[in-house]
Amino acid sequence: MPGSGLRGTLGSNRPGIVPEIEITRHIPEGERTLPADVRDGLTAEPKAIPPKHFYDRVGSELFERITRLPEYYPTRAEREILETRGPEIASLCPATELFELGSGSAEKALLLVEPMLTAGELRAYTAVDVSESALVGSLEEMVTTHPELTVEGHVADMTRHLGELPPPEGPRTVALLGGTIGNFSPSARVELLRAMGELAGPDGRLLIGCDLIKDPEVLVAAYDDSEGVTAMFNLNLLAIINRELGADFDLADFEHIARWNPDEEWIEMRLRARRDLTVTISELDLTVGFREGEELLTETSAKFTHERIAAELTEGGLEVTGLLTDSTDRFALVIAEPTGA
Ligand code: SAH
Ligand code: AVI
Repeated sequence: MPGSGLRGTLGSNRPGIVPEIEITRHIPEGERTLPADVRDGLTAEPKAIPPKHFYDRVGSELFERITRLPEYYPTRAEREILETRGPEIASLCPATELFELGSGSAEKALLLVEPMLTAGELRAYTAVDVSESALVGSLEEMVTTHPELTVEGHVADMTRHLGELPPPEGPRTVALLGGTIGNFSPSARVELLRAMGELAGPDGRLLIGCDLIKDPEVLVAAYDDSEGVTAMFNLNLLAIINRELGADFDLADFEHIARWNPDEEWIEMRLRARRDLTVTISELDLTVGFREGEELLTETSAKFTHERIAAELTEGGLEVTGLLTDSTDRFALVIAEPTGA
């Protein structure tokens, strides 16, 4: 039922240690898109499963390990912008509320909150993520570090539930950091940008992290690291399907692939079958064959030029009012305002 999230509080069992945080579930227990996405994705040609399913507890932890890998530059590049340009970002985003989508560990929000508090009006931090485990840990940290803020969380899918989230009570900045915008298809991105503009309201701002096009060798290395952490993150999707849907994927039968697609300007992550094999997904009553070398697409991660960023934001009813890059132009933090168009 839209707008009727299931509410719970966090921290009330530890009074005096962690102030209360309200968490609203927009994805009711038992209401899952995984079964439908797996059925559609494994019976399609070519096979594909959307990347939002990576983020169970293990997937969220593996993503955090990825952010610390030497090859995975986006987190360091975006952090550099946040650390060195905080006051400028705060002046471009005057807000009483920072509202973050796909917040993950919320480490970057912690960096943003400081200059926004110094600039004046910030009173609240709201986080939205499909991963409840990521949300709980990060909100505890936020409220412990900044007890002066009203902190709340929403377990929600940003492609489905933005219309159910509370409207702004004052100037709101809606953030989508890390380059997550690139994990959506071009048409889904425009829809998401439009919905983010509505969520921000006419006085609001958007703050969007966009990874920039660069040498394909650097890009591929970021998604195929030498320690194999990204491979584990990718293969964990099969472990999730085994656990959640009673499938019998043998992870050793699949190889992690990261490839730059120059026509689409995105990195593709795939899982390639090492041999002819059959998988049974008991909860779906489904048996699926893979030929040796056949690939399952698990993620696209689009990389942008400044021009493409501006064009897509215009299509989403937004106007770019600031674009800050790191010292080596690897990553851009874009500030935008709804135009009402
Ligand atoms: N913003 C953080 C985390 C990026 S990882 C950073 O910059 O480091 C992407 C995050 O988005 C994960 O925490 C994942 O659980 C969340 N996510 C992915 N798809 C989502 C969706 N459709 N709706 C809500 N959250 C989503
Ligand atoms: C969350 N998102 C921006 C990451 C990315 O770079 O596309 C997910 C990721 N996939 C592999 N490594 C990191």
